[in-house]
Amino acid sequence: MTTTDPTAQRAPRRLRDLSVSPLGLGCMGMSEFYGSADARDDEESVRTVHRALDLGITLLDTADMYGPFTNERLVGRAIGSRREEVVLATKFGNERRGDGTRRVNGRPEYVRAACDASLERLGVDHIDLYYQHRVDTTVPVEETWGAMSELVTAGKVRFLGISEAAPETVRRADAVHPVTALQTEWSLWTRDVESDGVLDTVRELGIGFVPYAPLGRGFLTGAITSPDDFRRNNPRFQGEAFAENLRMVDRVRAIADEKGCTPAQLALAWVLAQGPDVVPIPGTTKVSRLEENVGALDVHLTADDLARLDEAAPAGATAGERYPDMSSVRR
Ligand SMILES: NC(=O)c1ccc[n+]([C@@H]2O[C@H](COP(=O)([O-])OP(=O)(O)OC[C@H]3O[C@@H](n4cnc5c(N)ncnc54)[C@H](OP(=O)(O)O)[C@@H]3O)[C@@H](O)[C@H]2O)c1
Repeated sequence: MTTTDPTAQRAPRRLRDLSVSPLGLGCMGMSEFYGSADARDDEESVRTVHRALDLGITLLDTADMYGPFTNERLVGRAIGSRREEVVLATKFGNERRGDGTRRVNGRPEYVRAACDASLERLGVDHIDLYYQHRVDTTVPVEETWGAMSELVTAGKVRFLGISEAAPETVRRADAVHPVTALQTEWSLWTRDVESDGVLDTVRELGIGFVPYAPLGRGFLTGAITSPDDFRRNNPRFQGEAFAENLRMVDRVRAIADEKGCTPAQLALAWVLAQGPDVVPIPGTTKVSRLEENVGALDVHLTADDLARLDEAAPAGATAGERYPDMSSVRR
């Protein structure tokens, strides 16, 4: 899809039967993973959520494990009396325990307890989109999704999603209860879903696609030159691979300069141009960057622009994996 019609770009999109704004807001970085704990600014984060709602962004993305647990409380506080304006998405399954250890947990009893705990932290009586965050290979996905489906019947959850699932897992989940959205990393430097069957599968089944980290965890904006947080553990942010990847950012920046937009806006416009079933959720903790990112909806890419971006950041060109241990991610 090339996007030449400005009104079309601001129109709501559909994740299967769920109508949402064309861009969402990722809230994870407001509580963990990026930057230092000292630099965290909850008040600016709340202002960022409010500005997002003012600008018509409806989809807010959080998870119980962000913080851990504090991000849901922060998002719940920010939503406050504006609950009706929000399509609230959260996730379970990346269990973080009191002793600091983590495990993937898809057991039905855990699903039920995790949902109740998220509702309490968010301060709401229902979640709009509830994702299985990671697939538990020790529990058949049918059992996990059976419990998730019961949450819909009970009115605690409206729609169900899954994150980082392999095509066969998506099919099995969808056979239990319709999968509304698949959430997985997709951006100019993470394009594997275009060829590994994930995108084909969700399109065949009519499932919406929510690309996370559409700014490449900030990398594609050009603002990250020496990562000193969670990102430095990821191979593509390390050593030679990082240096090589920076050359890709230079190429993207050159095209952005010509288009009269910022690299962040261009990166988001590229994801938005992948189809009306695609709803990226860029993360930011700052009002100014949120406003910049929403400006991506005014960037119109021609077929020629898309071809040039394809040359600047070809699928498979990124050096280094996205996580230190990829075998624990897509299952
Ligand atoms: N399902 C999963 O497993 C999974 C995994 C990761 C993330 N997620 C979700 O996806 C959301 C988005 O992903 P993400 O936050 O990891 O990565 P992202 O959206 O690609 O990038 C976020 C980073 O970019 C920076 N940034 C944002 N706008 C910018 C701009 N205009 N100029 C310069 N820097 C900018 C942010 O810093 P500032 O805050 O300083 O602006 C932050 O460090 C998360 O918030 C989370 O909700 C899901």
